[in-house]
Amino acid sequence: MLIRDATNDDWPGIWSIFRPIAAAGETYCLPTDISEEAARAIWLAPSPSRAVVALDDDGATVGTARMYPNQMGPGAHVASASFMVAEDRSGAGVGRALGDHVLARARSAGFHAMQFNAVVETNRRAVELWRSLGFEILATIPEAFAHPSAGYVGLHVMYRRL
Ligand SMILES: CC(C)(COP(=O)(O)OP(=O)(O)OC[C@H]1O[C@@H](n2cnc3c(N)ncnc32)[C@H](O)[C@@H]1OP(=O)(O)O)[C@@H](O)C(=O)NCCC(=O)NCCS
Repeated sequence: MLIRDATNDDWPGIWSIFRPIAAAGETYCLPTDISEEAARAIWLAPSPSRAVVALDDDGATVGTARMYPNQMGPGAHVASASFMVAEDRSGAGVGRALGDHVLARARSAGFHAMQFNAVVETNRRAVELWRSLGFEILATIPEAFAHPSAGYVGLHVMYRRL
């Protein structure tokens, strides 16, 4: 697997992963019917946001991540990041590889820490992955996420120093 910076040409592959994840409404605070244009504006936002793609040996896009300052100005030394892996490739180590890559990039870019603002508490795969990469749950915002089958569930704020 190759992880490299995303280009505009990568958008169709990213959208094919992004669209079903947003539509499922289980893991991201995004409109389930988000337009392609709005999704692209988020994921391929200009610098200082940076997007990467994970490609398999055939060159297919199997995952993507983006990293950005969590706040502006005096808060800009703490990074945040978002991750999406193709559902039919989940559980095969793509998310972990993207997580390792983004943490290394954030560290070398001089960020002091990384914060995830809204990890859905029922998203066990993500919560366990972030814990195994050194993140802790700082707080859980109760009933902040309307899950399509579990009802109102919490959003974790997860954090690790770099
Ligand atoms: C969450 C996501 C990024 C994980 O990516 P992935 O490629 O499936 O994850 P990996 O195969 O690298 O698994 C990494 C770790 O997740 C955990 N994990 C994986 N599947 C799990 C499951 N079914 N239950 C609990 N933990 C699980 C394990 O700790 C695993 O590590 P290990 O296999 O080395 O023990 C991916 O599933 C995804 O894109 N989900 C939809 C969008 C999303 O939730 N994004 C993150 C929002 S915070």
